[in-house]
Amino acid sequence: MSGLKDGLLAGKVAFVAGGSSGINLGIAQHFARAGAKVALISRSPEKIAAAAKTITDEGFEAIGLAADVRDYAAVEAALRQTHDQFGKIDVVLSGAAGNFVAPALGMSANGFKTVVDIDLIGTFNVLRASYEFLNRPGASLISITAGQAVRPAMFQAHVCAAKAGINMLTKCLAMEWGPAGVRVNAISPGPIADTEGMRRLAPTPEDEARIKGRITLRDYGTKTDIAEAALYLSSDSAKYITGTILNVDGGSELGDASGSAVMG
Ligand code: HXC
Ligand code: NAP
Repeated sequence: MSGLKDGLLAGKVAFVAGGSSGINLGIAQHFARAGAKVALISRSPEKIAAAAKTITDEGFEAIGLAADVRDYAAVEAALRQTHDQFGKIDVVLSGAAGNFVAPALGMSANGFKTVVDIDLIGTFNVLRASYEFLNRPGASLISITAGQAVRPAMFQAHVCAAKAGINMLTKCLAMEWGPAGVRVNAISPGPIADTEGMRRLAPTPEDEARIKGRITLRDYGTKTDIAEAALYLSSDSAKYITGTILNVDGGSELGDASGSAVMG
């Protein structure tokens, strides 16, 4: 598909953490179609190689590297390899995450810690380690957060805590790195169709219908909706935007729009 975004990231280098599937792979593919060379990381060597191949099969440049975001040295090595192969990094997308549905009393300390380690500590690792490899001034760093950061949810204590931390980390790093010309923002997707996240949170058609009935725009979003927002935040069109949490959520953050919660 051609359009205004053609060439928006021409000559740029993007690094996508958690890029082997879902929303983040959709973003990486979008970045490549806009002209960026893209490096992707995730834990699984097979999954990340296959993800990079979806991009090279379209005729664009991409590499897939195995690295766990909980391992700072591994993340740093992947960033160094990206820098050595493609040049200074213009765009960093931190989206690796884990989730399972469990009440706090059904969660061990390690279960809680695992999600915080992947989502929050992993995001710090990716953003912190990227700094010395960035094209400064002008680089754009984007994390993927979620509505759980600002709305408490049953059986999601680990995700709510971790994503809330990402929101505040985004704002703190934006303040510290803005003077060097590095913008730091986050995207908060609403429920997105055909993703592992929603397969875990709403596995049945009944769950899906119930959730859609509460969303202001009455539907799930698409991976392209999130990729378009990421492309915008990466581009010079957003050069005066930093420290922002951009909701791409069909109005989910407004609350339950089913009309059944008038007295709520
Ligand atoms: C209770 C659980 C559990 C469950 C795992 N654990 N699943 N506890 N209920 N259903 C516990 C384990 O028992 C263990 O604790 C600890 O968590 C770590 O488990 P591991 O399997 O060793 O962890 P690991 O291999 O690192 O895998 C991480 C994972 C896994 C998060 C548990 O599900 C994963 O790899 N997820 C990645 C894909 C994913 O989740 N995608 C969705 C992202 S969507 P003990 O005490 O036994 O050692 C998202 C939601 C945002 O982020 C909002 C959407 C709207
Ligand atoms: P997904 O397909 O499961 O994506 C998660 C990615 O993270 C995978 O590529 C996974 O690859 C990688 N990953 C997991 N643990 C990792 C680790 N320790 N180190 C490196 N990579 C790791 O899920 P998704 O639903 O598309 O979610 C993507 C992002 O959007 C997440 O940040 C999620 O919180 C957010 N989000 C999703 C929704 C939704 O509706 N789906 C809504 C709001 C926010 P490997 O298994 O190969 O490591």
